[in-house]
Amino acid sequence: MIDHLTIARIQDAAQIVDVVSDFVTLRRRGVNYVGLCPFHDDRTPSFYVSPSKNICKCFACGEGGSPIHFVMKHEQLSYYEALKYLARKYGIEVEEKEYTDEEKQAQSDRESMFILNEYARDYFVKILHSHPEGKAVGLSYFRERGFRDDIVKKFQLGYSLEQRDAFTTEANKAGFRRDYLLKTGLSAGGDDNRPLVDRFRGRVLFPVHTLSGKVVAFGGRILKKVENVGKYVNSPESEIYSKSRELYGIYFAKSAIVKQDKCFLVEGYTDVISMHQAGIENVVASSGTALTHGQIRMIHRFSENITLLYDGDPAGIKAALRGIDLLLEDGMNVKVVLLPEGEDPDSFARRQNAEQFNRFIADHEVDFIRFKTQLLLEETGDDPVKRAGLISNVVESIALIPNSITRSVYIQECAQMLQMQERVLIAETNRIRRRNYDRKKELKQREETVSEAGTKNESASSVNQEQKQRKGVVAGPYDRYEREIIRYVIRYGNTPIYRKYEKQKRKEGKKVVEEDILVEEGPGVTEFVLYDLERDHINFSNELYRRIFEEATTFVEHSEFDAGRHFISHADPEISRLASELMSDRYQLSKIHSRILGEEEGDQSSRLLEQNLLNSYVPRATTELKNAYVLQKIEEIKIALKKATPDDENGLITQLQQLQQIKRLLAKELGERIILKY
Ligand code: CTP
Ligand code: MN
Repeated sequence: MIDHLTIARIQDAAQIVDVVSDFVTLRRRGVNYVGLCPFHDDRTPSFYVSPSKNICKCFACGEGGSPIHFVMKHEQLSYYEALKYLARKYGIEVEEKEYTDEEKQAQSDRESMFILNEYARDYFVKILHSHPEGKAVGLSYFRERGFRDDIVKKFQLGYSLEQRDAFTTEANKAGFRRDYLLKTGLSAGGDDNRPLVDRFRGRVLFPVHTLSGKVVAFGGRILKKVENVGKYVNSPESEIYSKSRELYGIYFAKSAIVKQDKCFLVEGYTDVISMHQAGIENVVASSGTALTHGQIRMIHRFSENITLLYDGDPAGIKAALRGIDLLLEDGMNVKVVLLPEGEDPDSFARRQNAEQFNRFIADHEVDFIRFKTQLLLEETGDDPVKRAGLISNVVESIALIPNSITRSVYIQECAQMLQMQERVLIAETNRIRRRNYDRKKELKQREETVSEAGTKNESASSVNQEQKQRKGVVAGPYDRYEREIIRYVIRYGNTPIYRKYEKQKRKEGKKVVEEDILVEEGPGVTEFVLYDLERDHINFSNELYRRIFEEATTFVEHSEFDAGRHFISHADPEISRLASELMSDRYQLSKIHSRILGEEEGDQSSRLLEQNLLNSYVPRATTELKNAYVLQKIEEIKIALKKATPDDENGLITQLQQLQQIKRLLAKELGERIILKY
C-alpha cells in the first residue's frame, strides 16, 4: 500500500485551510477561519479551521481533526483512500505496491464501486469519441443539440452502445466483479446467474459527480422518443448514491459559486450544461425533484444566495412557489427569474451569450418574497377574503426566515406593498413563528416519548429529564429566554445599554465645530440583567447559563472586560462552545447589513444598530423571562384550583388575580417594545 515516507510527505503538504476549502467556503476570523459545518445542520458558522494548528473543529457538533481525518469523514473514505485523495490533490506520487488478493479484498465496497464507476465513465467517453456508433449516434446527437465538443469533454459525457452487453463484457474482461456491476447498477438482470445486460444501452450518458469529482451515478438519456420508455434512466440508489443527496453540476460549479457568491438552480442535466457553455458556471440542477435539506446545505456551504430559474408559463410559476420553504428556513436569500414563456434554461442559454444571459437575469431577477407577494396581489384584486388569505400566505413564508433582521426588512417591505400596518404583520409573523415552534417542539417530544417508552419506565425517565434540563442538555421551559439573555451578556458584556449625547459647539481657532458630548450612560448589559432579575428573585434555571452569568458578574467593575473573548477561550469546553455559537451570530448580522448598507459600512453599522437597540432588546429579554415565569405560575395555580378544598380556594383565586394583573402589565410592556426578536 503506501510507504511511510510518502505518508509523511502527504501529511506535510496537506494544508487544512486548503483541504477544507474544497468543500466549505471559509472566511477569515482573526487568526482562524470559519464556515458552516459540513457535518451537521449548521446555520451559523460553527466550523473553525486553524491554520497554525493545521486542524479543524466544529464547536457545535464536535467533529473535526487533521486534514486526513477531515477527508476521511467528509468523503467517507478509509485512511488509505484519504491519503491517496490528498496525494492526488498535492501532486505527490504514491508508490503503490501491487495489491495482494487480501488487500484487494480489504478495500471497501464503496471504493470498489467508485473505481468501477470511473472505469465505466472512461469507457463510455471513449466509445462516444472513438467508436463508429458512438460518433454517429451519440456525438452527433450532442452536436445537433448544440453542445460544443469542449463542453461534452468537460462534463465527461458518454455513450453506451446498442449491443445489450457491450459494457458488461468489457468490464468482465477488465476483471470487475459481478456483484459490483450489479451494485453500481451499471449492469442489470442476470437472475439465477444468467448473463448480465447493460443498463444504459443505446443511451447518451451524463455522469453525476460528487463535490470532489468522484462519479457516483449516471443519467442515461434516450435519443429517440419511444412510447412507454422513460426519457432518462438513472443509476439506482446504492451505498454510494442517493439521488436526493447529490446535486448535478456541483463539482464544476463550486468555485464559480464562491466567486460570484451566488448559485443558480435549474432542473435538468442539459440546463446545467448549456449554461456552462454560455459562460455561466455557478449553476446546479436538482435533477427534476424537489430540493432536499441536504442539497440545500451543500449549496449553503458555498453561498447563501440562490436564484431559481423557471419557465415563465403558469406551470413554471407554480413551480416557483413550491418548495421554497426549505430554502427560506435554511436562511438562504432566495430569488427567482422567470424565463420567457416556453423556454427552459437550456433552450434559452443556447441563444444567448453570457453577457446577454446575465443582463436578462439582472433585469428579471426578483426577490422571492416580493415575487410571491406581487403575484398573489395581482390574483386577489380587491376581494377582502382572498386578501386575508394572501396576507397569511406571505407571512407564512416570512415567518420561516431564521434571521430576525432579515425578517423585519421583509415585513416592512410587504407592509408597503400590501398597504398594511407593519404592526399587524409583525404580530402575525410572531404568532406563526410561535405556532411553528410549538409544532416542532411537540413533534420532538412525541419522538422522545416514543423512544423512551420502550426502554425506561415513566418515573425514571422524567427524573432523568429533569436532571438533563438542569444541566442544560435538554431545553427547559425557560431555556430559550435565558439563552437570549446570556447571548447579550456574552456579546456585549459591560457595554452600556444606552449612551446619551448632546451637541456642543466649541471654537477651534476661528472655526466653530460641533461635537457630540457624552452626557449620560446606562448600566452595562450584565449589570442591568443582574439587578433586573434580582429584583424579581429570578435566577437562571439552566446550570450552564447560571455559571456563565455568575462569572460575568464578577467582571462588572472591569470596563476593559471583553466578555466574548473571555468566554470563547474559556477552559470549560461547554462554555467556550456555547460562547462561540452565540458570538457567530454577530457575524451573520453583519453580513445582512453589509448587503443592505454596502460592504464597508455593514460591519460597523450592524454593531452600532444592535448597540443602539440594546436599550430595548435587553430589557425585553428579561421581561420575556419574567413573563414566562408568570405564565408558568398561572398554569400551576389553575391546576391547584381543580383539586383545592373550598378553604384554599379563596387564597388561590386572589393569587391568580394578582398574577393576571402582572401578566397584563408585562404584556403591555412587551407590546410597546418593537418586536424584532422572537
Ligand atoms: N429526470 C429524471 N428521470 C426522468 C425524467 C427527468 O431523472 N425520467 C431528471 C433529469 O435529471 C433531467 C431533469 O429531471 O435532467 C429534468 O427533466 P427534463 O426537463 O424532462 O429533461 P431535460 O434535462 O430538460 O432533458 P432534455 O432537454 O434533453 O429534454
Ligand atoms: Mn430540456
